[in-house]
Amino acid sequence: MKNSFIPNIVLNDQSTMPALGFGTYMLNGSAGVASIVSAIKAGYRMLDSAFKYENEGTLGKSIVESGVSREELYIISKLPGRHHRYAEALYTIEESLYRMRLDYFDLYLIHWPIPRLGLYVEAWQALIEAKKRGLIRSIGVCNFLPEHLQKLIDETGVTPVTNQVELHPYFPQQKLRDWHKEHGIVTQSWSPLGRASKVLQEPVIKEISEKYGKTVPQVILRWHTQLDAVPLPKSTSYDRQIENLSIFDFELTPEDIAAICSLAKPDGRRQDRHPALHEEF
Ligand code: A2P
Repeated sequence: MKNSFIPNIVLNDQSTMPALGFGTYMLNGSAGVASIVSAIKAGYRMLDSAFKYENEGTLGKSIVESGVSREELYIISKLPGRHHRYAEALYTIEESLYRMRLDYFDLYLIHWPIPRLGLYVEAWQALIEAKKRGLIRSIGVCNFLPEHLQKLIDETGVTPVTNQVELHPYFPQQKLRDWHKEHGIVTQSWSPLGRASKVLQEPVIKEISEKYGKTVPQVILRWHTQLDAVPLPKSTSYDRQIENLSIFDFELTPEDIAAICSLAKPDGRRQDRHPALHEEF
C-alpha cells in the first residue's frame, strides 16, 4: 500500500468523502493544470475549487488530462456571493458543471453567508433543488457561523454535510467544531497550514515532528484529521503534495494534540475575514 492512502469518512447524508483533499485556490491556467494533474497523480482524489477561483475550467482540463476516471474523483465547487438568488444559483451550478465538463458535483457549497444580503437561505434552497435534480451529490457551506447554520436547519430542515472554514494551529476553532459535532456536520479546513506562515517554525510542532520522524506540515495535517477535520492543503510541488498526503501512518497522542491547540491566538485568523462581515462576490 502506498503511504499516501486516504481513508473515507461518512457524511450525514450517508455518502462518503476522503479524509483529506487538495486545495486549488490560485492554481489557474496551464501552470494550474500542471499542479492539479500532479496532485491527482500523487494520489489526491478530492479536489476543492470555487466559481470565485476562476479555475473551474482549469480543474476540468486537469481531470481529463489525469486519466483518472470521474467516479474515482471527488469534486467540490462553491456558489459565489453574487448569485445567491434561487434561479441564479441554479444557473450558476449548471454553468460550473459546463466549465468543468462534468455531469455532477460530489459536493457543492455556499462560499460565504454574506448575512447583509439576507439570501443565504434562498441559496440553500437552490442547492437542495440542484441535489434533487442530480446535479450535486452532497450539499454544504463554507464560512458559516452557528447562527447561520441554525437558520438553514430551522427554515429548510436540511443540515449541511460540511462547513468549510479557516482552521490551523493559530485558529483551531474549538467551539465551532464542537457545534458541528453536535449537529452531525463535518468540518473542512481551508488554509490548513496557515498558508505556510510562521506556524511552520513553531518549536512545539517541530519537537513533535522529530518524535515521529515526520515533517511539521505532516504533523499539522495529521492534527486536523485527529480533530475530525478534513484538511485541504495546496501545493504546487509534487514532492510537497506527496509529503502532505503521507499522514495516515502515524498517530498523535492527546497531549500532542493539546500542545498544538495551545498555539491558538485570540483572533488567529490570517486575514480579516470574519464570516459575519466578509463580503465577496
Ligand atoms: P508551495 O505551493 O510552494 O508548496 P495552505 O494550504 O495553508 O493555504 O498553504 C499553502 C501554502 O503552503 C503554499 O504557499 C504552499 O507552497 C505551502 N506548502 C504546502 N505544503 C507545504 C509543505 N509540505 N511544506 C512547506 N510549504 C508547503
